[in-house]
Amino acid sequence: MTKFETSQVWLSGFTSSAEAKRAGTELFHHLGFSAHHQLARLALGRSLGEADFPSPAADARGFNIKGNLLFGDESGGALLWLALLVENIHKHFPSKAISLDVLQSAVRDHWSRGVQLLNEDWEAAPNGYADFVETLITRRAVLPDDGDTLQPDSDQAATQQSMTAKPLWLDLGTNRESNDPSLWLLNGRGYSPNVAIMGQAGSGKTRMMLKLLAQLREQTGAPVLLIDAGKDELADRPELARELGAEVVKVPKSPIPLDMFAGSDDSLESARDVAMDFCASLDKALKDGLTDNQKPRVVEALKPLLAQRRRIPLADIQKTLEQHYEDNGINEDRVLSSLRMMNQYSLFSPELTPAEFFGKSRILAFGGAPDESRRLALFLLFDALHRHLQTLPEAPMDAEFHRAVRLVVAIDEARPLLAAKHDGLSKLVRLHRSHGLAVFMASQSPDDYEGQSDDYMEQIGLPICFKTNATSTAVLNNMFKARKGLNFAALEPGVCLTVLDGAANRVSAF
Ligand SMILES: Nc1ncnc2c1ncn2[C@@H]1O[C@H](COP(=O)(O)OP(=O)(O)OP(=O)(O)O)[C@@H](O)[C@H]1O
Ligand SMILES: [Mg+2]
Repeated sequence: MTKFETSQVWLSGFTSSAEAKRAGTELFHHLGFSAHHQLARLALGRSLGEADFPSPAADARGFNIKGNLLFGDESGGALLWLALLVENIHKHFPSKAISLDVLQSAVRDHWSRGVQLLNEDWEAAPNGYADFVETLITRRAVLPDDGDTLQPDSDQAATQQSMTAKPLWLDLGTNRESNDPSLWLLNGRGYSPNVAIMGQAGSGKTRMMLKLLAQLREQTGAPVLLIDAGKDELADRPELARELGAEVVKVPKSPIPLDMFAGSDDSLESARDVAMDFCASLDKALKDGLTDNQKPRVVEALKPLLAQRRRIPLADIQKTLEQHYEDNGINEDRVLSSLRMMNQYSLFSPELTPAEFFGKSRILAFGGAPDESRRLALFLLFDALHRHLQTLPEAPMDAEFHRAVRLVVAIDEARPLLAAKHDGLSKLVRLHRSHGLAVFMASQSPDDYEGQSDDYMEQIGLPICFKTNATSTAVLNNMFKARKGLNFAALEPGVCLTVLDGAANRVSAF
């Protein structure tokens, strides 16, 4: 028997046939998965449950997924997958030596057949998803009638539910003129599901944002990433965390558990892009930015590291840059000194993949972190989310073109982030409606949006403004479609101005 290390399995690529890739992609959309390894696992399980061994897959031209992603990590069940596969091979071919090749080929055959069987199950399910799940549970898997009760996995339920396309109406309050409820269709056709909430201190921005998030969460179950970029007040509200089903992450006491540079090792181009994004984020995060000499240096120094490795902590970015400076006889400058300062705190630890991190509700607060660190952590996070969303299929739409919401990013106290004009946040607002992203932002004044591109402002589907003295004309023109006649300074407490069906509305929110 050949011996090989399990670590080889985690690092090796696995694939299916091209036909399974095609059929699997369709199923992937029907089932609302967020990553292809999820479907691959379901297919493997489906095929392993059959009494015979599959006939050989037609080819190996399907998606290539690395072992550590396909099977998860060792503590997450990867060894169990390996045991099931080895046992299955052994049962059908008792004398076959198990080698990496044999394992890859068995995975290919099972995966390819599994997709085909799942497809047949799907086509035989008259009422879609519910029937399909019923078939898998009651007819394909032999499950005991009773057993320990498992806590329902609210994450998975959320991911599934969130990908159901249907109209999502948010109740903003009562129209001041008609006394009717003011309802806004978040995922209507022809505009973006993004919301900008503005108003002076204490006017009700945070309360409004949370009210809308709760409604959205109730209707979709979609995960909410709620970022308190300012005061840290949202981290200490257990009832809020409960309502959103969110884990609270208080940076830097607990670092953000995300592999910020995930995917950088896919290709040299990816490494270059991630290095450029990092450089832009560092530039925008630092009060005085980077000089024209520093920027290409940072990119060049980091490309090899990003190309070779995944799960890179910020400390390794610092070390790599220090080495590059030393090797090239470059004098110390603020790139190194600011990274050293930032690394006094643990801003993030690269534990979770973007799919894992963004698949669950979280409240992020930055109480103890200095401004520059807070900005860098958030900018890296925005870039990571942008890159992650780019890899995902479009969110499904129903027959009336209501798109499902996959994730809501809500940023309270967004002013410093808007002021920095970071490209990552702008991309989230402008580019990912089709991926099912909704962005909610609360900041004090319409002036905070001054200087953003028209394109950006047009992607605000719903502006809401409580009392404020600010009067940025460009913003008013763009967001409120009104040149004059809107008096934000005279709004009473709890009343906001918004635009519904193209017309300005005064709404009693509380
Ligand atoms: N659920 C609630 N029920 C009743 N009053 C509330 C509720 N939530 C907040 N408030 C009150 O409403 C007012 C507005 O609060 P909110 O925190 O939403 O304002 P804000 O515009 O976000 O202010 P800031 O700019 O300081 O963040 C405050 O006086 C607050 O105490
Ligand atoms: Mg607030």
